[in-house]
Amino acid sequence: MLGIIGAMDIEVDSLKNEMENPAINKIAGMDFYEGVIGGKDVVVVKCGIGKVNAAMCTQILADRYNVDAVINTGVAGSLNNDIDICDIVISTVAQEHDMDVTALGYEKGIIPDMDVSIFEADRKLVELTKKSAKEAGLDVKVFEGKVVSGDQFISTHEKKKSLKNSFGGDCAEMEGAAIAHVASLNNIPFLVIRAISDKADGGAHMDYPTFEKKAAANSILLLNEIIKNV
Ligand code: ADE
Repeated sequence: MLGIIGAMDIEVDSLKNEMENPAINKIAGMDFYEGVIGGKDVVVVKCGIGKVNAAMCTQILADRYNVDAVINTGVAGSLNNDIDICDIVISTVAQEHDMDVTALGYEKGIIPDMDVSIFEADRKLVELTKKSAKEAGLDVKVFEGKVVSGDQFISTHEKKKSLKNSFGGDCAEMEGAAIAHVASLNNIPFLVIRAISDKADGGAHMDYPTFEKKAAANSILLLNEIIKNV
């Protein structure tokens, strides 16, 4: 069973609509849609915004649905000048950028007492997604890169610069690293796929509402191709 998580309705609704007679189970306020898409067993869920919702949701997928892999689909702000609005970022790694214990001597983003703070996406899923992106015939560029996540919408040049400089992030969003964190602790392969809705700068509050639908649709288009190939 493949678990698919999006934070918002626009990130998962069309996938839910592709299922015939899904079994819907409400757990911790989230509706888990279990069914078949493209001949594959999947469970699709909107987790809500932010790292806590995303983490809870991933643990439920592990405990109740025994998923073989988790894919997070959605939108993100670009931190990399080469990555434009509507382009897609496939995660190589994900890290929580708002974990900050620097006052005690830890580097920014390092989680004390954990072996790993930068979570590696499943290489097979990355390769499969690159292949699927070619087959999906998307009219946008597809990049591999680092996803950084925090409970903040990034919308200033200064914050964007600090995420680039401190973490080498390629895109910023609010769930991916939490999903990666929980999936990794449960030994479940994960991947984050994000389409760019804004540039995480002073214009983000205007770009985001303009481009979120188109960006989310691109991410879903790719995900449908992945489900075929998985
Ligand atoms: N999701 C989409 N754009 C974002 C941004 N600029 N910051 C955080 N999450 C986002």
